[in-house]
Amino acid sequence: MTLQQWMHSAVNRLLLNSTYANSPKCDAEVILQFVTGKSRAYIMAFGETALTHAQQEKLESLLQRRLKGEPVAYLVGEREFWSLPLLVSPVTLIPRPDTECLVELALSLMPKTACRVADLGTGTGAIALAMASERSDCQVIGVDYYPKAVELAKQNAEKLKIHNVTFIESHWFSALEKQLFTIIVSNPPYIDANDPHLRQGDIRFEPLSALVANEKGLSDIRHIISLAPQYIITGGWLLIEHGWQQAKDVQALFSQTGYTNIKTYKDYAGNNRVTLGQYYHD
Ligand SMILES: C[S@@+](CC[C@H](N)C(=O)[O-])C[C@H]1O[C@@H](n2cnc3c(N)ncnc32)[C@H](O)[C@@H]1O
Repeated sequence: MTLQQWMHSAVNRLLLNSTYANSPKCDAEVILQFVTGKSRAYIMAFGETALTHAQQEKLESLLQRRLKGEPVAYLVGEREFWSLPLLVSPVTLIPRPDTECLVELALSLMPKTACRVADLGTGTGAIALAMASERSDCQVIGVDYYPKAVELAKQNAEKLKIHNVTFIESHWFSALEKQLFTIIVSNPPYIDANDPHLRQGDIRFEPLSALVANEKGLSDIRHIISLAPQYIITGGWLLIEHGWQQAKDVQALFSQTGYTNIKTYKDYAGNNRVTLGQYYHD
């Protein structure tokens, strides 16, 4: 079988299983690139290249897993975020393109001078690494409750040779005592446990520890908003990514805790997804 023949047959099989495959061509291409080690351009130009038996077996086993709904990023162990190729694994969330909106906003609020940034619930380290890569003069610290997520984020920093970032285990702020930051960012778990989306598509394979929070998804957000003032320099900012229907509740939490300049921003799909506020100490 050639590269082109495999692509053709894989796309058709994925299309037949359209419940789980909404981007069959892209999924098949990523899997084929991963197994053959060839670029997209090579596959297009030399489609008549024959696959080895071992490659065909590996391709079949990955395609079977994709047909059962497993995310392509977990199959190939990598996903790009902010143009950084990040290692991913089922210990945490696969970084989403929409989270780049949070990064853009946070970067726009950073002073021109060096400052400290915290990323709470860092997972792969996506947000922390994106910010550290843009601002090599700043120190970024990423925390996660789960040791395996912290290990993954550390591996990403090492692989990408980003040195102005540290990753530690912490239950939100618990290991950050007495530290102050100019910017605190977080994309915490915010989905209600009964949300039917948790039982659909790729998300079924991601850990609930990265997705689900109590109080209709607001418990971790509430915790972070209420404690952050102790860790923010006066005039510093907290930015939180949340669900598209949570903006009002999140704004109310910011306001009740005494933040000012509270504002919600939309993601690339036009949904209200990031709320931020500034905190001044008396
Ligand atoms: C929605 S994921 C976000 C991951 C990453 N920041 C991103 O945007 O791709 C939430 C992350 O919060 C972490 N988390 C859950 N509970 C936590 C806690 N109590 N303290 C710190 N991190 C926690 C999860 O392990 C997960 O990595």
